[in-house]
Amino acid sequence: MNKEGKSLRNHVGKYEFGRVLGEGSFGKVYLARNMETGEKRAIKVFNKDRVVKDKMMEQIKREISTMKLVNHPNIVHLYEVMASKTKIFFVLEYVNGGELFNKIARHGKLREEEARKYFQQLINAVDYCHSKGVYHRDLKLENLLLDEDDNLKISDFGLSALSQQIREDGLLHTTCGTPNYVAPEVILSKGYDGAKADLWSCGVILFVLMAGYLPFDEPNIMNLYKKIYKADFTCPDWFSSAARRLIIRILEPNPKNRISISHMMEFLWFKKGYKPARFREQKYIDSSDIDLLFSSSNDHVVLEHKEPNDLRPSFLNAFDIISLSEGLNLSGLFEKEQVGKQEMMLIMRCSAPEIMSKLEESAKPLGFSVKRHDFKMRLEGSELGHKGHLTISTEVFEVLPLLSVVGMKRARGDTREFDRFYENYSTALKDIVWTAEAKPLDQTNGY
Ligand code: ADE
Repeated sequence: MNKEGKSLRNHVGKYEFGRVLGEGSFGKVYLARNMETGEKRAIKVFNKDRVVKDKMMEQIKREISTMKLVNHPNIVHLYEVMASKTKIFFVLEYVNGGELFNKIARHGKLREEEARKYFQQLINAVDYCHSKGVYHRDLKLENLLLDEDDNLKISDFGLSALSQQIREDGLLHTTCGTPNYVAPEVILSKGYDGAKADLWSCGVILFVLMAGYLPFDEPNIMNLYKKIYKADFTCPDWFSSAARRLIIRILEPNPKNRISISHMMEFLWFKKGYKPARFREQKYIDSSDIDLLFSSSNDHVVLEHKEPNDLRPSFLNAFDIISLSEGLNLSGLFEKEQVGKQEMMLIMRCSAPEIMSKLEESAKPLGFSVKRHDFKMRLEGSELGHKGHLTISTEVFEVLPLLSVVGMKRARGDTREFDRFYENYSTALKDIVWTAEAKPLDQTNGY
């Protein structure tokens, strides 16, 4: 039973609820235990009413998609999402070393070495998210947790925006975040580069870790904004000159002149003792459960990944196709996707087994090794790019016996490399790809 004793039963699904770990703007986070395995989890609870009233549905859906997309040792992992009639439950990795904020509040500033270790982990995780087109946009000390080995974990992707929300000018257009950590261009809300804005917040975090106080802090909000616009801050005299130079390059008010993450990672101060994180492989991401969360009829529906183990490809009906496309506009299924997308779809005029063979044949000349399992395939590039080997997960879904949708998802590697791959791959497959302009299919097929 929670503190109020009413609003929450002491278990949901297989999870038993314990004490409150923290409270955010949209609900509480509870410690929970998986009664089957005994594992501890943190469960973030959202009230559907509030979410609907405050028009936060889109934001919550985004949070789910975002957290499913990211899989990094320095980012709090999302295991599953459950829903009842009135609530949404996010089952998260339990991080038991407390908040970095509390460590600073209790013990004051950190030694430069310790601050550097946390900053390296922060940058590594943020850079990984950016390579997936995900921007946090609310990075602050309060969102950084520590695990039992004193490693940093970023929590709360509630305000993240996926690259899909980038408008034609290539910039993000929502103002959010905590003023002390927010970049000047975000406050001005003229559209901004999410990567540069996140780096500014990382710069503020590094300052706080080493100074024990904020670089921009004013009781009056207008005075605070003025200081941020002008990057009016002073490094305390205990900062080394190398750390000072780095912070000045990050806390540059003009995002065009601000250093990029990749350039910043070349600084000797940053590189000292840097151990980039090792990644686990990303699973195929199924986003089809998200809309279910907002239906009013479900009572403790536990949503998990389905692993079909029969030998037929998964079947898509018209509703699935519409939900995969942009609303009811099916043109997105036929046209080349925008640059920077994480997922692509092709419609093909063949049986699923034939498609599997063609996908394999066409990937090999492009230098990809292929692993097949039923109607799923994993393609791994031979070249080692900036973000590791480009790895693509594909799955064939049958719409009609001779018409299938091929879903492709970038599991690893750089977004731009994925765009290039998609361009070459779809050209190599052009004989079987169905386009809106294509002639009607062979009459003998009957479709
Ligand atoms: N507070 C907020 N999220 C948490 C988590 N995942 N683990 C522990 N405490 C938390």
